[in-house]
Amino acid sequence: YPINKPRNAEWSFAGPFGTWDQGALQRGFKVYREVCSACHGMKLIYFRDLADLGYSEDQIKAIAAEYEVQDGPNEDGEMFERPARAADRIPSPYSNVAESRAANGGAYPPDLSLIAKARAPERGFPTFIFDILTMYAENGPDYIYSLLTGYKEAPEGEEILDGLYYNPYFVAGKALAMANPLSDDIVDYDDGTPQTVEQYSKDVSHFLMWAAEPGLVDRKRQGFVVLLFLLIFAGLLYFTKKKIWANVQ
Ligand code: HEM
Repeated sequence: YPINKPRNAEWSFAGPFGTWDQGALQRGFKVYREVCSACHGMKLIYFRDLADLGYSEDQIKAIAAEYEVQDGPNEDGEMFERPARAADRIPSPYSNVAESRAANGGAYPPDLSLIAKARAPERGFPTFIFDILTMYAENGPDYIYSLLTGYKEAPEGEEILDGLYYNPYFVAGKALAMANPLSDDIVDYDDGTPQTVEQYSKDVSHFLMWAAEPGLVDRKRQGFVVLLFLLIFAGLLYFTKKKIWANVQ
């Protein structure tokens, strides 16, 4: 099925000098918590990882304490619930795939921890050739952003099965089992950022990119230092070689 190439957004983490936008990360996490987490887990993320978003230790403890996690067995051999701590993972809404399918009419909302890396539709000819050369790596967040902003009425004549929702950006067909989860003003932003579907989608995609590759910005920075080192080292080697061989005709 022909897939629409994702819309390309501006990401602060793109390019060789990309950086995370902590405001966007915090807003994206809020969108995840208040909307997406009703159906999607992020089981690879620990509360302590949220320090990257700019939260202090106390703020992280407070966020974690809003969740209950299962622990145990205790001395009586029983499992029990307790408030989450910084060292716990973000709890998933369902405890297993069967339960999540049962709650979603047979469909399975995937865990979102790695989704920004797990989906990367190519941007079509000829862009994909340049994308290889420029190492374009933002297809994942572009895709999530496009999917979330892409819901619309199915065109005349398109058959859409019951329980599916038309979206031209979905990778595996023309409709998916997730209804449009976002609408304007459903999440309150306290920093004056517009509360629109467009903005929510962009922020949550930014957050999901961080979740899938938290080391992205550090990796780029280190890569830059390595290249700088190699350049200087190559220069030193060149002059060393000149000096050593100076007397040889
Ligand atoms: C699938 C993101 C909210 C139910 C997906 C996919 C993504 C996603 C990226 C994968 C699509 C693919 O396979 O390419 C989000 C985000 C949300 C959100 C960022 C919050 C803004 C929700 C909510 C529900 C839900 C609230 C349940 C009411 C599902 C289901 C699927 C799905 C059932 C599987 C669709 C299929 O394979 O046909 N979601 N989602 N999602 N989501 Fe969500």
